[in-house]
Amino acid sequence: MCGIVGYIGESKPISFLVETLERLEYRGYDSCGVAYRPKNSLRIILKKRRGKIEGLKKELLSHQFDIGIAHTRWATHGIPNRINAHPHFDCQRHIFVVHNGIVENYKELKKFLLKRGHKFRSQTDTEIIPHLWEEYIKRRKNPLEALFEVVNLLEGSFAIVALVSSLDKIFVVRKDSPLSLGVLKEGFLVASDIPAISFSTKRVVNLADRQVGVISKSSWEVYDFHRRRRYPKVGKVEISSQEVEKGKFAHFMLKEIFEQPQILKSLYSLYTNREEVKFKELNLSKKYLRTLQRIFIFACGTAFHAGFVGKYLLEKYARVSVEIDVSSEARYRSLPIRKEDLVIAISQSGETADTLASVREAKSRGAKLLGICNVLGSTLTREVDTFIPTFAGPEIGVASTKAYTAQVFVLFLFTIYLAKAKGFLTSLQEREILKELRDVSRYQEKILKELDSLRRIAKKFSKFGCFLFLGRGINYPSALEGALKLKEISYIPAEGYPAGEMKHGPIALIDEYRAVVCIAPQDSLYEKMVSNICEIKARKGKILAILTRGDKEIVSLVEEKVFVPKLNNQDLSPLLVAIPLQSFAYFVAKNLGCEIDQPRNLAKSVTVE
Ligand code: AGP
Repeated sequence: MCGIVGYIGESKPISFLVETLERLEYRGYDSCGVAYRPKNSLRIILKKRRGKIEGLKKELLSHQFDIGIAHTRWATHGIPNRINAHPHFDCQRHIFVVHNGIVENYKELKKFLLKRGHKFRSQTDTEIIPHLWEEYIKRRKNPLEALFEVVNLLEGSFAIVALVSSLDKIFVVRKDSPLSLGVLKEGFLVASDIPAISFSTKRVVNLADRQVGVISKSSWEVYDFHRRRRYPKVGKVEISSQEVEKGKFAHFMLKEIFEQPQILKSLYSLYTNREEVKFKELNLSKKYLRTLQRIFIFACGTAFHAGFVGKYLLEKYARVSVEIDVSSEARYRSLPIRKEDLVIAISQSGETADTLASVREAKSRGAKLLGICNVLGSTLTREVDTFIPTFAGPEIGVASTKAYTAQVFVLFLFTIYLAKAKGFLTSLQEREILKELRDVSRYQEKILKELDSLRRIAKKFSKFGCFLFLGRGINYPSALEGALKLKEISYIPAEGYPAGEMKHGPIALIDEYRAVVCIAPQDSLYEKMVSNICEIKARKGKILAILTRGDKEIVSLVEEKVFVPKLNNQDLSPLLVAIPLQSFAYFVAKNLGCEIDQPRNLAKSVTVE
């Protein structure tokens, strides 16, 4: 989850490097730093500090530079401070390195280096990289040869950008952490995330896993870890800079909440012809799908909640058994995955370490792997057998919103596709469901037009110190997602629970100081939700209910309510209730003055365990 940037080329003001690094701020960080070589000098200037880039800027001289690297750190080993900030360097201060990931065997490597007289300054795992490289340059002389030795010794995940003071080159390494190379007219830009590159160029090379790159001012070479030359193609960045700008919105999160109807509209036209679902690129034969009996779904956080909705849909329509778990558990369970099973891995970033690890574990068992992912070229899309892109565009807000409803929508389409292949859905039934799916974006737009009352309610509910989110059936995952949204941007403790579990504990929480969000659309479990709401009311709990427009019963029982349009097929309700849940969290956090797009301690993509 750190941000890394490197530049080599015609000389530029150092502000170029820092502004490029600022494009990665949304990933969240606690310290930052740069190392660069001023024009016509061999000396390396190093500036790093705890805190935001704004503070770093004040320390920088107005230099022109031609080679430089920069970093935003989200601490994993060693507290956030100046010493632990990157770049890190070797004993001679010749080699400067920035790193994203975790070197899992850094302790033994550090022991090996200490025995050889290396002196360390920081508590980080990263600092062993420049020292190890220094040690092997002493033995191999050739920095590239030495780098191959180093990368084959390191265990764990690492995206590395490095400069060596006497060389007109930067070196890059990619293993389990994303790294892309932007091709500029005047040089090359390297970054851990494409939005940092897309402002300067649309020409990009996505390094594959286990690759080393050597970049000079006019050329670049790529090798695999076995020293074999590789020739990755220069592709085109699809992200337009305005996509990454907030536009008229106060926060990326709010912009992305409002983008959802359009995204679902595009997904509908991309993956259906109104008559049937069509996954042209999906590499799962109808024969395979017909015999499929069991699916595993692995994901983290919001993606897990989308997968949970998918579980209800797949079991109901495709009549397959679905086992779901968070990736951090799945990867360590001895799951009885067979080669006939399908594993669906869901990830917005496609770089979540736990999800990638659960995919690798499943692959070793011979299962088929389907990814549902928002970032083309991400590691997940390269490691699964086939994947369905969610095309939600870059999701900048750390709190996932548009990716969530895009994942649920794609899961619904896949469910229809599978149910049809298995003969459990007729073409007429498919057309019916697709007709309702087509209306979802219009229903979402209606909800988005009526957020003013929710803004008022959120202001009133901001005073509560603890929230319970309750839902049943397919909206139990909606309750989990609503609670996650609130807690991760407002820092208010919030718990999602199946409403039927109230009596098994949570009801002890209820009194006049507790807020309860009840998701109660008019579905088959509506009456059960009515009883839950009466129980909460009897204990003076403060209720915000999410109801179907036209509701007559609950509306008189609750203090505050928000309506969603009436659906014929209530299985689509998670796609509607997500909007008020996301917006409620946003308005509460805004009312509390929280840092919404970059909540504390969180990163957009958790690329380490
Ligand atoms: C959701 O709002 C969080 N940002 C987080 O839970 C996120 O969903 C999780 O880390 C999974 O990320 P991924 O979808 O990129 O794998």
